[in-house]
Order: sequence, then structure tokens, then C-alpha cells
Amino acid sequence: MWELFAVLAGLSLFASPSWACSRVTYNSTGTDDNRITTGRSMDWFMTTNASIWAFPAGMSRNGSAGENSVNWTSKYGSVITAMYEAATVDGINSEGLVGNFLYLSNSDYGKRDLSIPAISVGAWLQYFFDNYATVDEAAKDLYTADGKEKLQVVTAELIPGEPSLGHLMLTDPSGDNLILEFLDGVLTVHHGKQYSVMTNNPSYQQQLAIMEYWLPIGNQSLPGTRRPADRFARLSYYNNVTVPSSNAEESVAVAASMIRAVSVPFTPSPPIGTGSPDVASTLWRTYADTRALKYFWESSIYPMFLWINLADLDLSKTGQVLLLDLQVPSDERGGDMRGKLVVSPPFPFFQVNG
Ligand SMILES: *[C@@H]1O[C@H](CO)[C@@H](O)[C@H](O)[C@H]1NC(C)=O
Ligand SMILES: *[C@@H]1O[C@H](CO)[C@@H](O)[C@H](O)[C@H]1NC(C)=O
Ligand SMILES: *[C@@H]1O[C@H](CO)[C@@H](O)[C@H](O)[C@H]1NC(C)=O
Ligand SMILES: *[C@@H]1O[C@H](CO)[C@@H](O)[C@H](O)[C@H]1NC(C)=O
Ligand SMILES: *[C@@H]1O[C@H](CO)[C@@H](O)[C@H](O)[C@H]1NC(C)=O
Ligand SMILES: *[C@@H]1O[C@H](CO)[C@@H](O)[C@H](O)[C@H]1NC(C)=O
Repeated sequence: MWELFAVLAGLSLFASPSWACSRVTYNSTGTDDNRITTGRSMDWFMTTNASIWAFPAGMSRNGSAGENSVNWTSKYGSVITAMYEAATVDGINSEGLVGNFLYLSNSDYGKRDLSIPAISVGAWLQYFFDNYATVDEAAKDLYTADGKEKLQVVTAELIPGEPSLGHLMLTDPSGDNLILEFLDGVLTVHHGKQYSVMTNNPSYQQQLAIMEYWLPIGNQSLPGTRRPADRFARLSYYNNVTVPSSNAEESVAVAASMIRAVSVPFTPSPPIGTGSPDVASTLWRTYADTRALKYFWESSIYPMFLWINLADLDLSKTGQVLLLDLQVPSDERGGDMRGKLVVSPPFPFFQVNG
């Protein structure tokens, strides 16, 4: 196990620093009344120092983004995964709004416009968990009355040499999805039930075009490399043909079956310039049941499959910040994590002085 960590850490010395990830929204249909379960893989070129946090409502927050940094107070509690105790990259809030931050190296958040409140890339996803109950609410609050973006994301290198660039996908219990990408400095939005899959480069619009090609012939042929366009095509196809489920356990199993099938084995990342920089090995996966309000976390480097039932936590204003440390693999991190989270001060978001 520690040898594997060493290999992963070592890779970063000679391979292109890159990360990837895949994300799906699964609809149980069947006899389970359209339960919506999400799944995501985290593909990354070195250890992510992941930890799970429970945040209550009523927290005072700021964008950690220098001048004109946004301020807010959390309206909803959430259970999230953080990387490096610096960035919220995954999670679900008390209303069943799920969100995931995935790599998008094409991201361009634009030149800093000081008239727009700024938010650190590390806090961007948390802002949505804290402020919105549904995808529709979030979608309606992206722009000011005069049509400007309400927030500008600012970024820097959290890992030296590796720009922190990504796009977001949000899903709520109705199965509505929101995909947010900054391309050439402009916020690009895809909103709707049909946008059920996301990976990485190229832009979402281009992914949809590629998927159009593969979906009708998917029963005969699918692209198999680790690259994001190939994972997008495969995941779209799987999500189109998977079986319905009749309960919560089956839904998680189906979502997991798809995400495992687009996971990337432990392989070196191709060097820069070979046309496939967006691949990295899968280190962990999460699944979220938007109706049962359960958050599942699965390691791919140690037999740890665990879950947190949001109903077991006090996510209201009277609740405390809690931490579930995952950094040292442990047999204690399996099954229901009820009672295993400990009171902790919150981590500070990655400070970017935009
Ligand atoms: C947030 O609060 C800080 C500190 O009080 C302030 O400097 C900043 O301008 C505030 N941001 C906004 C967008 O009002
Ligand atoms: C990850 O954790 C290790 C061990 O605590 C630490 O040495 C390293 O600096 C952390 N990485 C980042 C990017 O914070
Ligand atoms: C889920 O599937 C059912 C049955 O096909 C359909 O009526 C419903 O609109 C779907 N929901 C979403 C969010 O796609
Ligand atoms: C692919 O196979 C599935 C399951 O056998 C079938 O329902 C579907 O119609 C097929 N799709 C195409 C485009 O042939
Ligand atoms: C699955 O893909 C086929 C072929 O593109 C399409 O006709 C069908 O509507 C899709 N079904 C679902 C459930 O998305
Ligand atoms: C922003 O929040 C951090 C905690 O994440 C806190 O340490 C810092 O003082 C806050 N900054 C402002 C200007 O309020």
C-alpha cells in the first residue's frame, strides 16, 4: 500500500501532472419512483489528502480571493470531500443537492474584473452547497440583474506546476443537472435532465457532439482509451442502457457499476504533448443518494467503502463542524461512519489573491 503511494508520488516527477474524473446521474426508474443517485471517480496523479467534512448551516464564509472577495453565511449544511484541506471537490447538502468539481484544463476564468466579487477555486463548489436547495435555484442565481456573472472564480497553483482548473456539475433529487464551465473567460451553462454525464476536456458542447456519434452504435463499438472523450462516450452509453433499480441499495450498485467501468487503472500518465494529458489513475469514488441523503465514499487503494447518513448529523445552525480523516488508510474506515466524525475547526479555503 505505502509502496503504491510512493509510486503515485514518484509519478509526478516524470509524468505530466494531470487529473481527470468521470461523473454520472443515474435514474432508478423502475419500481423505485425515479430515485436519483450520482457517481463520480477522482483520477489524480498523486495522493489527494482527501478528508470528509460535515458543515452546519449558519457558517460565516468568504471567498478567500483577495480584493472584493465574496462573503456569505451557509444556509444549508453539507457533507463534502476536501482535497489537501484546501478545496471542496465533492459532496451533498442537506437538501440533496449534489456537486462535484472535475478537472477541465481548458478552463479560463478570465482576467480579474475587480467589479465582480471573487471566489477561490477551492471554495467555488462549497458556495453552491451553502446557498441553494435545488439546481434550478442555483441556475437562476448565476447572473446579476444587468447580465454579468455574479461571481468570478480565481485560481492559482495549489500543487506547484499544476494549475487548479475545473468545471462543476450539480444535481438535485428531481434529476435536474447544471454544468458550469468558464471558457475564454465566459461562464458557459448546460442546464437540464439530459446532461447526465461529465468528464473533462474538451468543452461540454464538444463532448455532446462526440457522444452523438457513439450512442447509436454503442451496442457494437465504443472507444476504450482512458481519455475523457472516450470515458464520456462509454459512460453516456452505460447510463443509456443500464437496468432500472427497485431500491436505494440497487441504485448505488448501478451507479457504482458505471463509475467503476470508466475508472482508470494504475498506469502512468502520458507525457505532455502526446495529445492525451487528461488521464490519471482513479484514486477514489463517491456516490450520493439524493433522496435518502446518504453519501458513499470508496477508496481504490485500500479496501475502504464507507457511508455517511446525513440524518445522523446535526447540519442545522446548532451543529458543529466535523471531520472524518481519510488520510491514513484504515480498517476503521468501512461501513457506516455514524459516530466516527470528530469535532474540528473548518479548513481554510485555498487563498488566491486575484
Ligand atoms: C467581504 O468582507 C470583507 C471584509 O469585511 C470586505 O473587505 C469585502 O469587500 C467583502 N466583500 C464583498 C463582496 O462585499
Ligand atoms: C498531503 O499530506 C502530506 C502528509 O501530511 C503532506 O506532506 C503534503 O504536503 C500534503 N499535500 C498537500 C498538497 O497539501
Ligand atoms: C426518470 O425516468 C422516468 C421513466 O423513464 C422518467 O419519467 C423521468 O422523467 C426520468 N427522470 C429524469 C430526471 O430523467
Ligand atoms: C442496444 O441494446 C439494448 C439492450 O439490448 C437495446 O434495448 C437497445 O435498443 C439497443 N440500442 C440500439 C441503438 O441498437
Ligand atoms: C439511448 O440512446 C438511443 C440512441 O441514441 C436513444 O434513441 C434513446 O433515446 C436513448 N435512451 C435513453 C434512455 O437515453
Ligand atoms: C475568511 O475565512 C477564513 C476562514 O476560512 C478566515 O480565517 C478569514 O479571517 C476570513 N477573512 C475575512 C476577510 O473575513
